[in-house]
Amino acid sequence: MDLSYILNELGEERDSYFNAVSPPIVQTSNFTFKTVADFRRALNNEYDAMLYSRGQNPTLTILRQKLAALDGAEDALVFSSGMAAISVPILALLKQGDHVIAVDNPYSWTIKLFNNLLAKFGISTTFVDGTRVENIQNALRSNTKLIYLESPNTFSYELQDLKAIAAIAKQRGIITMADNSYCTPLYQQPIALGVDLVAQSATKYIGGHSDVVAGVLTGSKALIQQIFNHEFMNIGPALSPHSAWLLIRGLRTLPLRLQRSFESTKTIIAWLKQQPQINEVLWPFDENFKQTELAHRQMQGCGGLFSFTLKNSSLQKIETFCNNLKHILMAVSWGGHESLVTPSLAGIKAADYGINNPRHQLIRMYIGLEDPDYLIKDLEQSLKLFPF
Ligand SMILES: Cc1ncc(COP(=O)(O)O)c(C=O)c1O
Repeated sequence: MDLSYILNELGEERDSYFNAVSPPIVQTSNFTFKTVADFRRALNNEYDAMLYSRGQNPTLTILRQKLAALDGAEDALVFSSGMAAISVPILALLKQGDHVIAVDNPYSWTIKLFNNLLAKFGISTTFVDGTRVENIQNALRSNTKLIYLESPNTFSYELQDLKAIAAIAKQRGIITMADNSYCTPLYQQPIALGVDLVAQSATKYIGGHSDVVAGVLTGSKALIQQIFNHEFMNIGPALSPHSAWLLIRGLRTLPLRLQRSFESTKTIIAWLKQQPQINEVLWPFDENFKQTELAHRQMQGCGGLFSFTLKNSSLQKIETFCNNLKHILMAVSWGGHESLVTPSLAGIKAADYGINNPRHQLIRMYIGLEDPDYLIKDLEQSLKLFPF
């Protein structure tokens, strides 16, 4: 399906709403029926009916069709956060006594999901270094029901060979799920590589303006319907029609925004690598990145998120560098119009900072839509604090 068709037309029946270019926000909780027979039909199959907006809503239907098509999936569900799009399907697919293999260092709340919430229900998780397929193979147990992937992750960018891991899982009837927030479906299509379920934080690139929190899950109709009919309806992580509308609007410009972020990131990384204060840059499409061959094999482009370290990076040096940035904002998240810095050490107590711990030294940057020269000037004036 043509990308332009998906983003501009798919799911939009304009003649049913005054030929408006922009779809309506159907801000209703409830839908009415003229006959008991129609009402009964809807109550018996909410997956196919407009009954109540915890389940289906027409604005969300437009969005879901577009997101499913972008991923090459049969169906999509949207959620009130990316974390809900990860937690709800996992709760739906697993039961007491099941085992999960998850990659090391996924998003922090995903780690807590496995270590705290699932553990409470008797579901165990083995975290493995997913950069080597053998590590996944060696962790398999007779009760392994799910392999959870995040490629790349969003601080140190380790990748997994999605195709090879999906093939191993399929042979054994194990479900694979991947967090594709870093790439979006424009730069990576895990379903085409054999992955069963794909989650994304739509808060990032799909929303694209840092004004909505949302999540997406795509997969086969059978899996999505199973999740919808039980845990989705029970837990109730519905996205509001207004937020769905913001995501439809975000999708219109997604290719342009991604491309801009990708191109500016290349420019900024090339500049940073020439600065004597910089020790190392981590970005999957960088020629020195240890998995760059795999990155180019399974990704069509690279996001605007990368990390770097400063030479002799004491806690004070990192804090001074970040505090002194004038235009690059300090915050979590990414994927919006604004460039951001997220020092890893903000997540730990100052006393716990380990000068030899490479993860503590990482300074994550997200490159948004500003002019790259404007951002370089900001980086330059802060790096100047540490002359070489
Ligand atoms: C890689 C990744 N996955 C999932 C999430 C969770 O998404 P949300 O914040 O929309 O719940 C995040 C949030 O930062 C993330 O970075």
